[in-house]
Amino acid sequence: MALTFTTPNSHSRILSVGAYRPSRIIPNSEIVDRIDSSDEWIRERSGIESRRFAGPDESVISMALAASKQAISRSGLSVSDIDAVIVATITYPFQTPSAATELIMKLGNPKAAAFDISAACAGFCYGVGMAADLIRSGTATNVLVVGVEKLSDFTDPDDRGTAFIFADGAGAVVIGKSESAGIGPMIWGSDAESRDAILMTPSWIDLKAPGSVGWPDISMQGQTVFRWAVYQMAPVALKALDVAGLTPETLAAFIPHQANMRIIDAMAKSMKLPESVAIARDVRVSGNTSAASVPIAMDALLAERPDLHGKSALIIGFGAGLVYAAQAIELPQAPK
Ligand code: COA
Repeated sequence: MALTFTTPNSHSRILSVGAYRPSRIIPNSEIVDRIDSSDEWIRERSGIESRRFAGPDESVISMALAASKQAISRSGLSVSDIDAVIVATITYPFQTPSAATELIMKLGNPKAAAFDISAACAGFCYGVGMAADLIRSGTATNVLVVGVEKLSDFTDPDDRGTAFIFADGAGAVVIGKSESAGIGPMIWGSDAESRDAILMTPSWIDLKAPGSVGWPDISMQGQTVFRWAVYQMAPVALKALDVAGLTPETLAAFIPHQANMRIIDAMAKSMKLPESVAIARDVRVSGNTSAASVPIAMDALLAERPDLHGKSALIIGFGAGLVYAAQAIELPQAPK
């Protein structure tokens, strides 16, 4: 016999966003000596002027907790209304149990479904797409999606290719049901033949070998990643707009992964975004916070431009894997 059930929600939307930025501001001048670089070089090649590094009292969980509490409070819901938690991260220092279970336990709702996503800088957008589908199918009612990283734990401060790029922070959104379309179809995928372009090595197994020393740090083939992002990601972003019935002319905001200012500018140019589109450029003061960068940049853009609340935006994440995901969204309404 065929299954008989109805899907209760035809749409979902982002109800609120929250962010946590570590208190320690690190200007380029604090990075340059160890990598034989200069403030000028870093600004010109990446657009980064400063970034935040978490201190010893700021962990993946404490940052995720702060961002989540702010997002939940702004949503008008309470923690008990959240029935699923998705945490996107590559820097939670335990393989299991998940960061999501520690987070939801500390938030005070230990019965919610909880799991982590390992999709690096695309993780948050993967999570938004999954949350939207969980709600539309009736599997979940309100989903907390968190992007959080403490990349300073897994970056070699002497590596010229990464030390000036990566940073720490957390961002979170609450996603719930909606009468109208608030989250467009996700355009996602991998270019896994280039998975060597960003690696975290050595493996834990390598480090277990007797006498081995070291630590898993991120390494990156900068030019490969740069070319991939600039040439491959603009068509993905345009497709995500198209399937949601939007065009560059009808879009209000563009909130790409904050990888590098040159990548953001090249994508905007290639997509032919008109001047009217507000572009998130939070990388300048936050660095690249991987899975956390899109929600942190969303929070910063809405603080700077409150008129964008409730307007359309295109979000896109891309990074290690290589993996990517993009969707058009309606930005959350202003908190009451
Ligand atoms: N400071 C100063 N000089 C540096 C440097 C640093 N940190 N790193 C490299 N250089 C020098 C090199 O020695 C080289 O000098 P040379 O021309 O005299 O030989 C020159 O800069 C170019 O080196 P290259 O490695 O080709 O740098 P690049 O132009 O590719 O720039 C990145 C490096 C990392 C800024 C660039 O590749 C990039 O933005 N990649 C994308 C990274 C990114 O956004 N990743 C996140 C994805 S999620």
